[in-house]
Amino acid sequence: MKRIAVLISGSGTNLQAIIDRCRSGYIDGKIVSVISNNPNAFGLERAASSNIETKIINHSDYQSRDAFEDALYEHLAEIDADLIVLAGFMRILSHKITDYFMGKIINIHPSLLPKYPGLETHKKVISNKDNSHGVSVHFVSSELDSGPLIAQGEIKIHHNDNIDDIINRIHRIEHLIYPEVIKLICNNQIILNDNGIEFKENENTKGFIYRYYDF
Ligand code: GRF
Repeated sequence: MKRIAVLISGSGTNLQAIIDRCRSGYIDGKIVSVISNNPNAFGLERAASSNIETKIINHSDYQSRDAFEDALYEHLAEIDADLIVLAGFMRILSHKITDYFMGKIINIHPSLLPKYPGLETHKKVISNKDNSHGVSVHFVSSELDSGPLIAQGEIKIHHNDNIDDIINRIHRIEHLIYPEVIKLICNNQIILNDNGIEFKENENTKGFIYRYYDF
């Protein structure tokens, strides 16, 4: 069973979806630590109520990004995580972490990358009057919201959608597609190697995962 670390900064609805899918056995993995850089993140309470160990590594307690990342690295090494899942973790990680754990760190981003890396993706979709929007799951590299793409989920944007409608629907997609990817990684069906991502032949993973959600 894979040892999973989940890094959060906020509400942790994705964390909850992962907790639920580990508990039901859908994901063959165990969350061994929930790490937050924000001591007030609600996700810490979600973890605690599921008896999952939590660790606060507050970036403001460190004098430099390097020192913060040293502490993070030390903890990740100590818990011996097989998979590091960024779920709304609002710090950019440098080479130090991303190179060392290359192929073991994944992120979910609320846009159809390479469109709209960074923040405020939903606002950009509305102001540009885009017809579609979605989420991307990717292996993490030291460049923001980049790194090899594993999966994308897409929804249509309706002309009367407001930002809350969009946020809700994006969350619904995230809670489906992120556990799906984590399950496949835990089953060794998605692997990052020197030639890129290898999707092991299986009816679910013939290649890059694309899902269209009709809601
Ligand atoms: C998600 O929308 C995710 O795509 C982004 O941060 C948000 C985290 O939401 N990276 P939550 O804390 O999981 O509810």
